Amino acid sequence: MKISIIGAGNVGGLLAGRIIDSDLADVVLIDIKENLAKAKAADISDSLYFSKSSKKIFATSDFSQVKDSSIVVITAGFPRKPGMSREDLITKNANLLKDISSQIKPLLEDQIVIIVTNPLDLMAYYFKKLTNIDSKKLIAMGSNLDLARFANLIAEKFNVNINDIAPVVIASHGTEMLPIERLSRISKKPLTELISDEEIADLSRKTIERGAQIVSLYESGSAYFAPSAAILEIIRAIIKDEKKIIYASVYLNGEYGLKDICLGVPIKIGKSGIEQIVDIKLNNKEKLKLLASAESVKSLITKLPSD
Ligand code: LAC
Repeated sequence: MKISIIGAGNVGGLLAGRIIDSDLADVVLIDIKENLAKAKAADISDSLYFSKSSKKIFATSDFSQVKDSSIVVITAGFPRKPGMSREDLITKNANLLKDISSQIKPLLEDQIVIIVTNPLDLMAYYFKKLTNIDSKKLIAMGSNLDLARFANLIAEKFNVNINDIAPVVIASHGTEMLPIERLSRISKKPLTELISDEEIADLSRKTIERGAQIVSLYESGSAYFAPSAAILEIIRAIIKDEKKIIYASVYLNGEYGLKDICLGVPIKIGKSGIEQIVDIKLNNKEKLKLLASAESVKSLITKLPSD
């Protein structure tokens, strides 16, 4: 089993290390900055002595490695700087994705592709348009990161064990992301029964702003520890055929009443990719917010480069 990671930056490099440390698969780290990829691969392989992993890592600038990979993760992209929204990256990252897509399209057979490049709902949609990939094979990491942040903020605020929190966050990985407080639970009880509306609103706002908060603290670049852990959750579910429900951005074709858009929803993931888009029962208010989130992503489609 081999995984190609395109982009050896912070997320790609750390993800490669996490995959090797977890003994999940061999990794090919691909970057046009070949020495950066080589440095990270050498550094990660020097840790094999400690991790006792049996897996191998290899670095290259050659995209042909994608051909016999089971999973391809695209992390390449310009990161946000303080004050920038994910949407400010559209033109630069869409052009990059277009270039990568033209190189890997002829190599795609039934690989599962995980998109991480921001703004990721839009980039996943663009990748689908550029490559015509089967929607069951296209997953963008986003909502599982958002709900991990929501869980962490809840755990910190109420000093509860994070393992007792079952958060639900759907929709775009942007300012219109949608924490569903009514369906989020602490020790099986709905959040809405446990904490005040003000506290819930504050936690949701902090979740939405968490990525930007980290960008402004780093001063250059964005988060990579939790994002790489979120990608690893998806990869593990595929490799181990877990049939686990994970929240991620996927191409919708009528589900949730939405068509021709990528947006965060719960999906069941196994070795062949997306096995099911899981329908959670939203109330009318939540449905309207989901629609507004979808509109916010759709309105950006016109900003994608034309052919
Ligand atoms: C963040 C990036 C992955 O939310 O968008 O940190």
